[in-house]
Amino acid sequence: MNLEVIILAAGQGTRMRSNFPKVLHKLAGKPMLSHVISAANKLQASSIHVVVGHGAETVKQEITEEDIQWALQAEQLGTGHAVAQAMPGVSADATVLICYGDVPLVKDDTLTKLVNQVDENAMALLTVNLDDPTGYGRIVRNEKDEVTSIVEQKDASAEILTIKEVNTGILAVSAKKLNQWLPQLSSENAQGEYYLTDIIAMAVKEGMIVQTHQPESEWEVQGVNNRQQLSELERVFQTQQANKLMENGATLADPARVDIRGELTVGKDVFIDINCLFIGDVTLADNVVIGPNCVIESTSIGQGSIIKANCVLEDAVIKSRCDVGPYARLRPGTMLSDTAKVGNFVETKKTNVGEGSKINHLSYVGDSELGSNVNIGAGTITCNYDGVNKSKTIIGDDAFIGSNTALVAPVNVGKKATIGAGSTITSDVAEEQLSVTRTKQQNIDGWKRPTKKQ
Ligand code: UD1
Ligand code: CA
Repeated sequence: MNLEVIILAAGQGTRMRSNFPKVLHKLAGKPMLSHVISAANKLQASSIHVVVGHGAETVKQEITEEDIQWALQAEQLGTGHAVAQAMPGVSADATVLICYGDVPLVKDDTLTKLVNQVDENAMALLTVNLDDPTGYGRIVRNEKDEVTSIVEQKDASAEILTIKEVNTGILAVSAKKLNQWLPQLSSENAQGEYYLTDIIAMAVKEGMIVQTHQPESEWEVQGVNNRQQLSELERVFQTQQANKLMENGATLADPARVDIRGELTVGKDVFIDINCLFIGDVTLADNVVIGPNCVIESTSIGQGSIIKANCVLEDAVIKSRCDVGPYARLRPGTMLSDTAKVGNFVETKKTNVGEGSKINHLSYVGDSELGSNVNIGAGTITCNYDGVNKSKTIIGDDAFIGSNTALVAPVNVGKKATIGAGSTITSDVAEEQLSVTRTKQQNIDGWKRPTKKQ
């Protein structure tokens, strides 16, 4: 089957009260439209067409997925008209799946089942039964329970309004039929629009079967018209992700207080405390412990490592049995080898920290290479920037850097070298040397402090 997907995304979304097109509003850190594109991609569609109108240029700029065929609907004359704008790009032998850019959580599994019901003599509708069907197109069936038409709320009689089965808007049908029916749509209805839903009656008239499929859960087909609805779907999505983590062997202190905006992969017996946010691709190996209030982005953490409360990690690699935080900030390019420790109020950037090395308190270490078992005393700063260029600090195995040291890069400190506390190191220190740059202490006996003048 040659499947092509058309995603409708031309509507304005007035009720979002936003300067941005509705489909760009984010769910789990990703535009709603991108969620729909992801689902479509999982179906292995041969092409994905997105119909844009309001904010078309902005949508095209912000949606970075490759191989999207854009169709412009300059005026929003209805869902049928929207689909018609994409049809010139759709091959004549395709099966077409129509989705909405503002219905972000539909599952690829549901879509596959829908598409599989289409053949030469059948089209397929995704429908759902709602306790309150207000606003939706109603699915009208005959005495044999066959679908005969869809009637929009605004065009419906009192009797039809009592029907609880509604049109989700998602449907699948052959391109051949769409090409035949779309030009026949009329806008003679309560809204003066070209309704895509009018093709159902056309199909029935031709003796085609209109199959229906229902999603497993209602939220799959929930659309977003305002920010409240967006926040509801965000919670639904986050709950699902939290459940997946627990299924995969992670304990969550509170599944309602973990948010994932990207892909979080967990090993067994991972523990995640409350209020943690994961962004991008994050991997936590077996037995990793994440303390409360951590923000972890595009980082991998090796087995048995502990990240204590209130850490912010970005683009870092942490190997096994490391100890980080509380209050540590690992910036991009930080690599901690096994059993390394980075303590409170420490910032690192573009730095390799060797096995067993420690930066325990109040330091900035950037553009640096630290060997193994290095000890960086409290308050150590690598002065890596002279206002123009960045330079490197290289520290050998077993070196000991005394507290409150300034390492003015570029500088090398050899293996087993020792730096006295409070030093400003501007030139290299060789292996096993001691270097101290502070002025000698003077002690003056009987010193009298000045007194206040009368
Ligand atoms: C549509 C269906 C209705 C269904 C409901 C589900 C029709 C005529 N009605 O109604 O049966 O119950 O969806 O939510 O199809 N869009 C465009 N261009 C347009 C019009 C709409 O791209 O000219 C897009 C919108 O951005 C949106 C989707 O199509 O993503 C649905 O549009 P909307 O106006 O919400 O449709 P409804 O009238 O609610
Ligand atoms: Ca709608």
